[in-house]
Amino acid sequence: MENNDREIVVSLQNVVKKFGHLTVLDDMSLDVYEHETVVLCGPSGGGKSTLLRTINGLERINSGKIIYRGTEVTHRNIHSIRKHIGMVFQSFNLFSNLSVKDNLLIAPCKTLGKDKKEMLKKASDYLELFGVADKMDAYPHQLSGGQKQRIAIVRSLMMEPDLMLFDEPTSALDPEMIKEVLDAIRRLSQQGMTMIIVTHEMGFAREVASRICFLESAKIRVDTDTKSFFGDTQDERLQQFLSVILHH
Ligand SMILES: Nc1ncnc2c1ncn2[C@@H]1O[C@H](COP(=O)(O)OP(=O)(O)OP(=O)(O)O)[C@@H](O)[C@H]1O
Ligand SMILES: [Mg+2]
Repeated sequence: MENNDREIVVSLQNVVKKFGHLTVLDDMSLDVYEHETVVLCGPSGGGKSTLLRTINGLERINSGKIIYRGTEVTHRNIHSIRKHIGMVFQSFNLFSNLSVKDNLLIAPCKTLGKDKKEMLKKASDYLELFGVADKMDAYPHQLSGGQKQRIAIVRSLMMEPDLMLFDEPTSALDPEMIKEVLDAIRRLSQQGMTMIIVTHEMGFAREVASRICFLESAKIRVDTDTKSFFGDTQDERLQQFLSVILHH
């Protein structure tokens, strides 16, 4: 399906974000369409995490607009908009004193008042899909890093997000665990989840992303479909970045 047939989930329009005198997002514009998997990459300090954090209102912007499903995000509506956005970080902050089951059920059942039986079914379906079906009664300390991260993703999915943001979800993991977490994210992509993923796993990006953005020095320098990204790019900084990262 072409993008112009689809609805835009989130749109950044000329977004500027500064920390003091430091401009971290310099006039950034980005449209993310329904069912897209957009990968953000680029050198450290380029603004990738800040970009994700502005999308779900963890950072206030200095100027420009963020439009979510046609509505401009403001400090008034950010709380209700944020409920539709799931975010997964590098470190998996599960509640260490709660079992996997309770970690997964606490927010939907206690906060949203959803039916416990229904949520248990949903949880076990996701655990199954992500290859951790046997971990429902485990505690976080009994899980590997890769398992914890998959559970953290499920916890986010329990809230039925409309958009998922991932900030380097595999960068804290040992190499042998990276694949299982990327497989879980790939499944979500196949199910049509709209996602923005900060990652330097370029093999994964090549396979799963519909589009890749290269951020450097507060700018989106390249925003293109995945095939062109790995094709003959004209951007010198991107060439440099790719040659370092692909031969790493
Ligand atoms: N709360 C903050 N206060 C001041 N400066 C900040 C803050 N958060 C981020 N920055 C600065 O903003 C710039 C962009 O940071 P950001 O974390 O978005 O980069 P990044 O692309 O995610 O980098 P990395 O690949 O290392 O995670 C950096 O120069 C950083 O030092
Ligand atoms: Mg970052």
